[in-house]
Amino acid sequence: MSPFRLTRTLPEDATGAALRADVLHGLTRTPKELPPKWFYDARGSELFEEITRLPEYYPTRAEREILIDRAAEIAAATGARTLVELGSGSSEKTRHLLRALDDRSTLESYVPVDVSESALTGAAEALLTEYPALRIHALIADFTREITLPETPGPRLVAFLGGTVGNLLPAERTRFLHAVRGLLEPGDALLLGTDLVKEEDVLVRAYDDAAGVTAEFNRNVLNVLARELDADVDPGDFDHVALWDREREWIEMRLRARTAVTVKIPELDLVVPFDEGEELRTEVSAKFRREGVYAELTDAGLTPAEWWTDRAGRFALSLATVTG
Ligand code: SAH
Ligand code: AVI
Repeated sequence: MSPFRLTRTLPEDATGAALRADVLHGLTRTPKELPPKWFYDARGSELFEEITRLPEYYPTRAEREILIDRAAEIAAATGARTLVELGSGSSEKTRHLLRALDDRSTLESYVPVDVSESALTGAAEALLTEYPALRIHALIADFTREITLPETPGPRLVAFLGGTVGNLLPAERTRFLHAVRGLLEPGDALLLGTDLVKEEDVLVRAYDDAAGVTAEFNRNVLNVLARELDADVDPGDFDHVALWDREREWIEMRLRARTAVTVKIPELDLVVPFDEGEELRTEVSAKFRREGVYAELTDAGLTPAEWWTDRAGRFALSLATVTG
């Protein structure tokens, strides 16, 4: 049997139905909004990888630094036989965890979970050449909905890296952390990556890079609407906007109509007028402080055990445990 399995936990048409529901809801409300998971078709996943290499986008480098420094400690503290990773993408930084768990000879299974099938298959192909004996059970799933994990040996370490938890709205985040707690048993652990509050100009530059890659990533959601729903929309009609909301301590990405335009989606009987300058919110990216992360983990029934930052204090990894 091949050590690689790919399971789609949603019915074949569920993605289309979910996109239609989000579009109907998000484009008919004021202000307009769409959830960020729709960025990540094959092109969006590639663009995100390009973002991680931009000079302005520090979170990936900062988190990699922490993982390099702490992977052995994490492996020793968790003794994980299964690594589950939510929003795994390319699994590039995850290699440090896999390596450390393999060095302790505990690692048996890796369960990457992502909405992007292309990211999952690309990551698994690369990992299997490095770890031919590793059982990889990839799940195409939406982690904001119910997650059913495959039967794999415990203890389990669930990793949620990159700061992707910040892309959930506060109520979604609370629901999500409680759901993650529900997946864990005593002896399991959660490793959570969170980007930290810092100077506004550093944050805004990370989401509005000089090369325009983040702008292309942001507009890509309109390409997804055009392809998946036959929407009549020109991404060139919209400007990329990234701004810091100081009250809520999050970056907001928006698409701003350059002139008055109408987006038409005949299959949904939808005609969406945008005034000149009207904005569509496409993502929030919350930035955190230690007290807030600990309060949210504790509220979800998890016990914060470690807090590690990169040397410049830009990004944090927390390890939380489950006590019986
Ligand atoms: N963990 C990687 C990738 C982060 S990009 C890193 O740290 O670099 C965010 C990833 O989460 C993408 O691969 C995207 O496809 C996935 N994703 C976003 N929303 C999701 C959702 N609701 N359910 C599952 N995966 C999601
Ligand atoms: C995946 N996530 C943590 C990224 C972030 O920084 O919020 C997505 C992203 N959006 C713009 N650039 C990167």
